[in-house]
Amino acid sequence: MRLFLLLVIALGVQAADPPKQPIAFSHKQHAGELKLPCATCHVNPAPGEMMTFPVESKCMTCHQAIKTDSPEIQKLAKFAADKKRVPWTRVYQVPTFVFWSHKAHLDAGAKCSDCHGEVATLTLMSKEKETSMGACMECHRQKKVSNDCSFCHEKLN
Ligand code: HEC
Ligand code: HEC
Ligand code: HEC
Ligand code: HEC
Ligand code: HEC
Repeated sequence: MRLFLLLVIALGVQAADPPKQPIAFSHKQHAGELKLPCATCHVNPAPGEMMTFPVESKCMTCHQAIKTDSPEIQKLAKFAADKKRVPWTRVYQVPTFVFWSHKAHLDAGAKCSDCHGEVATLTLMSKEKETSMGACMECHRQKKVSNDCSFCHEKLN
């Protein structure tokens, strides 16, 4: 467990550099220039914990015709044809011992940018905002939300 935590901390320190992704997807291109709403690709299915990654068939609604000569789109088309998920490298992730819900925060009026920065300007996804315990607690303090240990953790040992 201790080793696991050290690993989590070590990864956390490096997280500001964009990790390598299996396909060169750009938010700047899709959410910025094409102005696609976040919800085109990130839905929030019940119970609302996750925003999820888009299914490849969603990408293919456009890319079956757009840029089919691009090697990146050919990689995408292969995943879609094989009905395999693209193994995107995660950028934001909290350990499993932390309670987390997107829905609770969105219902309370939080914006994507509060926790992920200005995503529509990013060519490569990188960690723009901390999701450390301190960052969570800072907003909870400001919004007068509980910071009891048991609010975010069941038990720690
Ligand atoms: C056309 C589809 C599409 C749209 C529109 C889109 N995204 Fe994404 N998003 C993706 C894909 C694919 C990934 C995984 C690849 C990557 O990280 O760049 C991703 C990754 C992310 C991640 C990183 C998740 C993680 O932990 O790895 C965040 C945060 C995110 N998107 C937020 C947003 C926000 C906020 C918007 C709207 C401003 C948005 N996205 C619009 C497809 C999209
Ligand atoms: C209050 C902070 C907060 C807000 C607001 C927020 N996120 Fe997140 N997001 C996180 C955290 C923390 C994670 C990591 C969760 C985990 O490990 O499961 C995350 C993970 C993600 C992921 C990776 C897949 C997943 O669901 O774990 C995507 C995609 C994402 N967020 C998109 C969005 C979009 C789009 C919005 C706005 C509609 C948004 N987020 C709003 C904090 C936030
Ligand atoms: C609404 C239509 C639409 C959707 C949905 C869409 N794209 Fe795109 N995508 C585009 C357009 C338009 C371009 C820019 C093409 C150009 O440069 O002429 C593009 C460009 C790209 C490129 C750059 C290709 C290159 O070599 O220049 C990649 C990679 C890509 N998209 C991946 C994805 C992925 C992965 C998804 C699903 C998560 C997705 N797209 C969803 C319309 C879309
Ligand atoms: C932008 C401000 C903000 C940030 C950042 C934030 N929270 Fe919250 N959080 C809130 C608000 C506001 C509520 C109250 C929602 C309500 O009243 O139901 C809340 C509620 C919660 C809840 C209760 C959820 C439920 O089901 O009722 C948990 C658990 C939680 N936050 C964990 C976290 C964790 C873990 C992080 C960091 C990864 C975090 N929060 C970051 C504002 C924030
Ligand atoms: C608002 C949510 C929240 C509250 C309240 C909270 N934590 Fe955390 N805690 C987190 C998150 C998120 C992480 C994971 C940080 C990361 O990504 O490494 C964490 C990680 C930890 C860790 C692992 C070591 C570390 O620092 O990463 C310990 C131990 C811990 N918390 C103890 C506590 C104790 C004790 C309390 C009460 C004083 C508490 N937490 C209250 C969100 C919270």
